[in-house]
Amino acid sequence: MSIYILGIESSCDDTSAAVIKDRKILANFIANQTVHKDFGGVVPELASRAHQQNIIPVIDKALRTANINKKQLNAVAFTNGPGLLGSLLVGASFAKAFSLALDIPLIEVNHMHAHILALFIEDEQHKKHPTFPFLCLTVSGGHTQIMLVRDYFDMEVIGQTIDDAAGEAFDKAAKIMGLPYPGGPLIDKFAREGNPKAYSFPHPNIPNLDFSFSGLKTSILYFLRDELEKDPEFIEKNKTDLCASIQHTIVDILMRKVKKAVKETGIKQVAIAGGVSANSGLRNALLSMEESHDWLVYIPKFEYCTDNAAMIAITGYFKYQQEQFAGQEVTPYTRYNQKR
Ligand code: KG4
Ligand code: ZN
Repeated sequence: MSIYILGIESSCDDTSAAVIKDRKILANFIANQTVHKDFGGVVPELASRAHQQNIIPVIDKALRTANINKKQLNAVAFTNGPGLLGSLLVGASFAKAFSLALDIPLIEVNHMHAHILALFIEDEQHKKHPTFPFLCLTVSGGHTQIMLVRDYFDMEVIGQTIDDAAGEAFDKAAKIMGLPYPGGPLIDKFAREGNPKAYSFPHPNIPNLDFSFSGLKTSILYFLRDELEKDPEFIEKNKTDLCASIQHTIVDILMRKVKKAVKETGIKQVAIAGGVSANSGLRNALLSMEESHDWLVYIPKFEYCTDNAAMIAITGYFKYQQEQFAGQEVTPYTRYNQKR
């Protein structure tokens, strides 16, 4: 018999609901929040208020599109962390009440693990899934990790950022250039027209498999400050080259450590996940390793890269099979926790 799960995501500024039937997504809706645009970043209090407004309409839309009655649901899965506490509480409270009212199991989901498990969603155009063990570069607005994935719920962080996340590096660079938040997708868009070798920015010298991006932000800031003194139009005139060069540097910093991880572990199955895995430069860099270095590479479908509830629903599906259910006492957590 098929298993139907409702997935709910509300960890940051996107309210999302999805319905999954086994490993196939029947519906996946995201309400983006526009209230943060004027502030150059997510304002936590505004985010939780917007989640309160969006959550019921988004879930209602997902259930209608999936064309199922809520009584058919086998379980409800929700993001329990990491994320913004006020935002997480909206999804968690709804999921708890829904599970009580329908008398179905409640499943808590780790947002970072869900980004990775999105690779297992079955889709007509996307039939290639990794087998265990594999490495996953998980890159989002809040995290940058190299994960050794031994099984669905056996993942080990073998490298991570010591300061900013890769998405943050994109967003902060964009902000310095006067681009609106979130700037990552815009840098990607302008980079397509520019020369990635036009400007060079220093690479950090960080040991092991760890990353650092705060130095890059500072070097971009000082470089642009000096150039703008000479020519106030410098950014406008060189926008595409600047974006291409910044993107090239971030992708290079990421790929160097992924190559090191492959060398050290001997694992040649490599995936990317998280919002920054939507980046065309990173996707191409990984794909090129398939041909040049014999890697087997896995990239989530574009719509499952940035925050979405489909990834929460697929994680819920795997947890349902293992009967990993949560009690009503479960509470959200803000920081990444490998054990949950
Ligand atoms: O995973 P995600 O949607 O949210 C978090 O869990 O943080 O990731 C959001 C991050 C933002 O920093 C955004 O700028 C970045 O992913 N991002 C991109 C692209 N699309 C989203 N960065 C570079 N290129 C993109 N195409
Ligand atoms: Zn995310």
